[in-house]
Amino acid sequence: RTVYVNGDYLPENEAKVSIFDRGFLMADGVYEVVSVLGGKLVDFDGHMVRLDRSLAELGMATPDARGDLLEIHRELVRLNDIGDGLIYMQVTRGNPGDRDFHYPPEGTEPTLVLFTQSKPGMIDSPMAKRGARIVTVPDMRWGRRDIKTVQLLYPSMAKMMAQAAGVDDAWMIEDGFVTEGTSNNAYIIKDGRIITRALSNDILHGITRAAVLRFAREAQMEVEERSFTLDEALAADEAFITSASAFVTPVVEVDGASIGSGAPGPVAARLREIYIDESL
Ligand code: PDD
Repeated sequence: RTVYVNGDYLPENEAKVSIFDRGFLMADGVYEVVSVLGGKLVDFDGHMVRLDRSLAELGMATPDARGDLLEIHRELVRLNDIGDGLIYMQVTRGNPGDRDFHYPPEGTEPTLVLFTQSKPGMIDSPMAKRGARIVTVPDMRWGRRDIKTVQLLYPSMAKMMAQAAGVDDAWMIEDGFVTEGTSNNAYIIKDGRIITRALSNDILHGITRAAVLRFAREAQMEVEERSFTLDEALAADEAFITSASAFVTPVVEVDGASIGSGAPGPVAARLREIYIDESL
């Protein structure tokens, strides 16, 4: 692969970042994942708006290359010949030259890294066809989940708990309510209404979520942005998740219990189709 680091396009084994980088020592960084379908970037502008917001919320400097990010994404797609796949982009507070809890002085250039992940056949993933099976775990993350930080240890632990349980993923629960998935937003469908937690500091403001809710409303589907409990999920007609990498993926089992018929439902299937059609 050819990757991008601080202005240079390099073979991945030649790309280097300091051991003092704040991203490495303090998880002091933010990221975005943009999907590529048929060589085309999906929802690029939305991801950049969220990047700027994450940087602002953490008082992190904007990388000098901010204005070139579209070009950098396109160049990486071209250099790596990506048809379907993902582009990962990370900005950290940079290299202060030593370990220190305090932020480095103004003028310390943030570290900017991008790389691609080729995923041929990403649109017809087997999991999208059969539906995901999930378990629930307590949400033990920090209080600013709206900021897309690289602090992903707990979501990784939750994915490992799901793997140990022999299922695909996990939803996180706080005060009896579902917050979101380990790396996706969570939805249920009851009596034709699409129910998903409202935006707040408790969840990531998914770019796919915004697009899917817009398409749903345009298709005259009813959307309720409110918290839902695990019991409501278990009694739902359908469930699904959204993210840049999963698009819309049906959820067919929660904590060992089938949702609805136990097979992917029609509403999730329709939303997936609309989302992919609009993105291609
Ligand atoms: N994850 N919630 C969480 C906790 C996430 O990590 C993500 C994205 C989402 C969905 O956001 P979007 O629709 O903008 O991708 C929700 C990315 C894909 C990842 O970490 O790989």
